Amino acid sequence: MAILSTFALFVALLSFLDPIDAHKTILERPKLHWGPKTPGHQFPHSPKRHKTCYVPNCLSSGHHGKNDDTPEILKAFKNCNKGGTVILNEEYTIASPLDLTFLEAVDVAITGTIKFTNDIDYWVKNSFKYDFQNSSAFWRFGGKDVNIYGRGQGLIDGNGQAWYDAFAAEPTLLRPILLVLDGLEHGSWFNLIANSTDILVSDIDIAVKSESKNPAKNGDGWDTFRSDSVVIQDSHVNNSDDCVSFKPNSTNIIVQGMQCNGSHGISVGSLGQYPAEYDIVENIYVYNVSMSNASDGARIKVWPGTNTPFEPGLSGGGGAGYVKNVTYDTFYNSNNDWAIEINQCYGQSNQTICDKYPSNITISDVIFKNMWGTTSTKYDPKVGTLTCSSTEKCLNISAYNISVIDPSGKTPQWICTNMDESLLDINCVSANS
Ligand SMILES: *[C@@H]1O[C@H](CO)[C@@H](O)[C@H](O)[C@H]1NC(C)=O
Ligand SMILES: *[C@@H]1O[C@H](CO)[C@@H](O)[C@H](O)[C@H]1NC(C)=O
Ligand SMILES: *[C@@H]1O[C@H](CO)[C@@H](O)[C@H](O)[C@H]1NC(C)=O
Ligand SMILES: *[C@@H]1O[C@H](CO)[C@@H](O)[C@H](O)[C@H]1NC(C)=O
Ligand SMILES: *[C@@H]1O[C@H](CO)[C@@H](O)[C@H](O)[C@H]1NC(C)=O
Ligand SMILES: *[C@@H]1O[C@H](CO)[C@@H](O)[C@H](O)[C@H]1NC(C)=O
Ligand SMILES: *[C@@H]1O[C@H](CO)[C@@H](O)[C@H](O)[C@H]1NC(C)=O
Ligand SMILES: *[C@@H]1O[C@H](CO)[C@@H](O)[C@H](O)[C@H]1NC(C)=O
Ligand SMILES: *[C@@H]1O[C@H](CO)[C@@H](O)[C@H](O)[C@H]1NC(C)=O
Ligand SMILES: *[C@@H]1O[C@H](CO)[C@@H](O)[C@H](O)[C@H]1NC(C)=O
Ligand SMILES: *[C@@H]1O[C@H](CO)[C@@H](O)[C@H](O)[C@H]1NC(C)=O
Ligand SMILES: *[C@@H]1O[C@H](CO)[C@@H](O)[C@H](O)[C@H]1NC(C)=O
Repeated sequence: MAILSTFALFVALLSFLDPIDAHKTILERPKLHWGPKTPGHQFPHSPKRHKTCYVPNCLSSGHHGKNDDTPEILKAFKNCNKGGTVILNEEYTIASPLDLTFLEAVDVAITGTIKFTNDIDYWVKNSFKYDFQNSSAFWRFGGKDVNIYGRGQGLIDGNGQAWYDAFAAEPTLLRPILLVLDGLEHGSWFNLIANSTDILVSDIDIAVKSESKNPAKNGDGWDTFRSDSVVIQDSHVNNSDDCVSFKPNSTNIIVQGMQCNGSHGISVGSLGQYPAEYDIVENIYVYNVSMSNASDGARIKVWPGTNTPFEPGLSGGGGAGYVKNVTYDTFYNSNNDWAIEINQCYGQSNQTICDKYPSNITISDVIFKNMWGTTSTKYDPKVGTLTCSSTEKCLNISAYNISVIDPSGKTPQWICTNMDESLLDINCVSANS
């Protein structure tokens, strides 16, 4: 399955993943295997489906009027809910929001193309709104036991160009998210995974790109939020924001076998944005990632201990919580600005303010190990920054078997501030050196 993310423009992208077994019907649910890291428990069994519902598109159904396949798609989900497979094997146009949070025991085979219209005025008024980071969604899935797959052919095109161009003129636009899994128990996949448990995401290509001078904005690969027990694996992400990020209350998550290009790294956070909330990120294992052309490789970003404006439509800081038991293991860096970044002053460029208001988020029991590769020239010879707002806010953070180098060949330097350097087997220097 390929996703041209929220803000994505159509490019012919043939997924080379998930090859089709010639003897099997293409519509059958693929057998996904997780690993090598596995959660401590099996996900619930997902019984075989015994009904199929093909979705005709407007053209083939002879449907007149508005060019919108949403009503037919909704109808198919109602007909095939509780034990069926919905088949989207044609080219569809989505011109209105689709709320599929009532699903139970249904498979979704997307072997055709789904394209969202770019009528921004319409979507701004009609998408599903979420308070978290002022976001909104066009399409949401929720319920229990849902498998969505593309068998190496499916394409979801968010038609993002119009959005990037509009963002350039009006930065407070709500940030749309193509697909949201909201409140799903046991399922395979998606872009924002919220209020969900037991989710496996595997073999997905995400490509985000802008063809105008306006950059693609907020095109995260995968975000988890208020979710537990999630595995994201064996996928490619080409974007300009986080490749995978663990938002507030993400617990027991494994990310492995990822290839990311041009992103902001595999990120914890940002956390502590909202003063009234308590954010937890705990038990995260990031294994075997290849990260290229990114601002960061492994990243933990939390806001300072006071609320201040960040950018138009976005302010933050002062929220409390903790990050605990996070491991980054086997991580290749190619041309990333920082191989590791810990930042407790996110969204605030005035260091005086950060020094005065240490973060309310404590970071502990973090391991960075088995990392190699070469950074970009941007901060050469510095290759990473581990900057805590006070020694009480960062506990038991270790780094070892790190052989990241800088392009100039000078001894690589790591900025370490308020860290227990006895646990860091890297060449620590102070920020002003
Ligand atoms: C998650 O659940 C909460 C509480 O039911 C709800 O307010 C929120 O809209 C849901 N989805 C997201 C993305 O936060
Ligand atoms: C990946 O993203 C970059 C930068 O946005 C873009 O130039 C490039 O064309 C994208 N590649 C693909 C395959 O989409
Ligand atoms: C690491 O991930 C790559 C795919 O990106 C995969 O080919 C390789 O087998 C994985 N290695 C391990 C040790 O899991
Ligand atoms: C990776 O990202 C770089 C920089 O954004 C871009 O130039 C390049 O085309 C991307 N590579 C692929 C395979 O998309
Ligand atoms: C996270 O979980 C804690 C503990 O259950 C809860 O108190 C807090 O409100 C949750 N925070 C968010 C942002 O959902
Ligand atoms: C730390 O997280 C890993 C990966 O999620 C998990 O396997 C392990 O049990 C956790 N350790 C503790 C002490 O909870
Ligand atoms: C990183 O970017 C360079 C230059 O833009 C490009 O040649 C290279 O293919 C990119 N790496 C990956 C893995 O896409
Ligand atoms: C969301 O957007 C509104 C309107 O632009 C703004 O007033 C508000 O501060 C934003 N919320 C956050 C959390 O950034
Ligand atoms: C940083 O914040 C301090 C304290 O609020 C203020 O005195 C100072 O002018 C600020 N510096 C800049 C560059 O804005
Ligand atoms: C957050 O930290 C600030 C100082 O950095 C402190 O004044 C405030 O009481 C803390 N708030 C919470 C909820 O812990
Ligand atoms: C430090 O963190 C690691 C990784 O979570 C954990 O295994 C270890 O027990 C912690 N050490 C202490 C002294 O808490
Ligand atoms: C150190 O990391 C490298 C990858 O850079 C890995 O090949 C090697 O096995 C690791 N060594 C140990 C002792 O784990």
